[in-house]
Amino acid sequence: MNDLKKDFPLLMQDEISYLDSASTTQKPQQVLDAIQHAYTSYNANPGRGMYTLAEEATEQYESARNTVAQFIGAKPNEIIFTANATAGINLIAQGWARQHLKSGDEILLTELEHHSNLLPWQRVVKETGAQLKFIPILPDGSLDMRKIDVLITERTKLVACTHSSNAIGTSVDVAAILARAQQVGARTLIDACQTVPHQAINVASMGGDFLVFSGHKLLGPTGVGVLYIKESMQDAVQPLSLGGGQPFEVDWDQYTLRKGPHKFEAGTPPFIQAMGLAAAINYLQEKVPFDALQKHEAALCARLIDGLSTMKNVTILGPVDQLKKQGHLVTFVVDGMHPHDVAAYLNQQGIAVRAGHFCAQPLFTKLGYDGAVRASFYCYTQVKDIDHLLQAVRSFHSL
Ligand SMILES: Cc1ncc(COP(=O)(O)O)c(C=O)c1O
Repeated sequence: MNDLKKDFPLLMQDEISYLDSASTTQKPQQVLDAIQHAYTSYNANPGRGMYTLAEEATEQYESARNTVAQFIGAKPNEIIFTANATAGINLIAQGWARQHLKSGDEILLTELEHHSNLLPWQRVVKETGAQLKFIPILPDGSLDMRKIDVLITERTKLVACTHSSNAIGTSVDVAAILARAQQVGARTLIDACQTVPHQAINVASMGGDFLVFSGHKLLGPTGVGVLYIKESMQDAVQPLSLGGGQPFEVDWDQYTLRKGPHKFEAGTPPFIQAMGLAAAINYLQEKVPFDALQKHEAALCARLIDGLSTMKNVTILGPVDQLKKQGHLVTFVVDGMHPHDVAAYLNQQGIAVRAGHFCAQPLFTKLGYDGAVRASFYCYTQVKDIDHLLQAVRSFHSL
């Protein structure tokens, strides 16, 4: 994994320790080249034109869909390109939940959710009279899985949960949650933003109805996300936007929509970005085997946790043992220092970390903190970045 950094021009130009990959990843030259190639070779609106360039653009766009489908074990017609993961969750909230839920129904989330998998459901319950419930966390930040049998009942119509917390790194046993949800006939949505970039995911064997992730968190460009909708669920979901590219037939006062992913992709889709995402997946498949990546990231977590644990004024949040085995981020607070001040000081030392509540404010309220500092890693992160951070945190003592 150690020689990958040279593929990332920003990291080579800029002598920073970039430790904010859970937020967005840097891009390898191969992806940047693929985006430029797409603009210079396939730039025509896909699915519309009859000329050769437009047909090639369509072919490349659909080929990107195939690449994504193979990557997560889906069928190509189950892959919908969205702007990002947030857009995918909102599509299911408004296009499915709002249409199908009513007073007395329940949506179950976890206390770990990112705001993107919380606010859309808060709106749905306001609109439908349904109720939100949460699987609680234990003091170490892991989920209290003993509660799922009582929380998932005949009233539960949807379970929408993160696969791994972006805030404190907790990995969620979605297999157990999906199994219980299926027993009561509840639909399921997995927010896989923090797992698709780090581990092999197979939606067919996982068995859920909806899954989302964002391209920019796995070396791809911004502006493209993926929403997986199981084929058998697609008729029950309404598109969020209506317009060009999706109708089958239109009259002055009515329309019918196409079947499959195009039904949900109104307007010109992010086709160049989708091609860039496919290039990112190709890069990962060629250069970043997931078992090696997980070992690399877990070793970085262990090094950082062990180093921080020797510092009396530092508290690590989250399930430390789990992070040392399969984490890709470490979240901590420095006693007596505001996380923003810690991040500002680290910035002066050339270290980029996130500080705040990481779009999981209710989780931090529950943990009893205003916020924290998060260092997160990916394939290009090196041991020297961790040592740089440890040295900088240690130097707080001498300020
Ligand atoms: C777990 C999780 N869910 C959802 C999101 C939202 O992703 P995006 O902003 O790309 O839509 C993020 C981004 O940080 C995330 O980590």
